[in-house]
Amino acid sequence: MAIHKVAVLGCGLMGAGIAQVCAQAGRDVTVIEVADEYLKKGLGGIEKQLGKLVEKGKLAADDRDATLGRLKGSTRLEDAADADLVIEAIIENIEEKNRTYSALDHACKAETIFATNTSSLSVTQMMTATTAERQRRFIGMHFFNPVPVMKLVEVVRTILTDREVFEAATTFAREIGKVPVQTSDRSGFIVNRLLVPYLLDAIRALEEGVGSIVDIDNGMKLGCGYPMGPFTLLDFVGLDTTYYIANIMFDEFKEKRFAPPPLLKRMVLAGLYGRKSGRGFYDYADAQNPTPMSLL
Ligand code: 3HC
Repeated sequence: MAIHKVAVLGCGLMGAGIAQVCAQAGRDVTVIEVADEYLKKGLGGIEKQLGKLVEKGKLAADDRDATLGRLKGSTRLEDAADADLVIEAIIENIEEKNRTYSALDHACKAETIFATNTSSLSVTQMMTATTAERQRRFIGMHFFNPVPVMKLVEVVRTILTDREVFEAATTFAREIGKVPVQTSDRSGFIVNRLLVPYLLDAIRALEEGVGSIVDIDNGMKLGCGYPMGPFTLLDFVGLDTTYYIANIMFDEFKEKRFAPPPLLKRMVLAGLYGRKSGRGFYDYADAQNPTPMSLL
């Protein structure tokens, strides 16, 4: 069950990263977006990332050109028809995803494996938008941000996934230079199951006056060797994204540790999404020197 041709749906931060690593690993990649402007932005971003690697001497100019040559953009789902693997990284909205999967199921050849990059939505629920045969070829492949740097891919099986499809996706993750971990379809999988309560606890600690934003960040960074403290990571992931994931996980497990704290909700309501909006737990007016916000 070799995977040569890949289609990536969605060319945002995650989709672009996934397309880049697949193309760098020698796969022919079709990137599909809903509009030309998103496609242009996503593919332009990949070109820029590859250019930086060439500047740093980490990628030969020829390899950059060959990688770009393997990337094709499209706004038509039908162009995923002969892909061996489709990796979906569109908006985290179950209705939108299911609409897409239903159309894709008709467009693709019978052998195509469908993989979702969802971080917390139910893979099983998405699977139900496809026919019984496809349901056996439906998995999760959850990448981490920034995709070209983070080594992990969570490979997720549902109760109906064929064992050989699961193993083929795991092998593919390894072939594109990632380290796969296998897990089952439970909201948050392995990483967010542990990461999300930790991030929410950091916010609760801040609300309770345990320490300042900078001190809590430094505590975890310097005391535990984490590359980023929890507030820097929250701003990096996006507070809106974290809030969304936490709500889905709370809905699934009904456990307090997944419940978004009031401060997180208020920050999202106020448009403080983190780096992407310029302000979150830090203010990024000077991107090189973010300053902690005064929030309490
Ligand atoms: N894209 C591509 N490359 C990037 C990058 C990006 N966005 N950001 C950093 N890099 C590269 C840099 O160019 C640098 O490469 P070099 O060694 O060749 O020069 C290397 O990564 C290290 O970067 P920096 O020296 O600038 O900074 P750091 O050493 O702090 O590394 C980091 C940056 C890799 C982002 C590191 O801080 C880190 O690992 N942070 C934690 C990230 C994390 O936890 N991600 C998971 C989020 S959760 C998630 O994605 C799941 C979802 O469901 C929520």
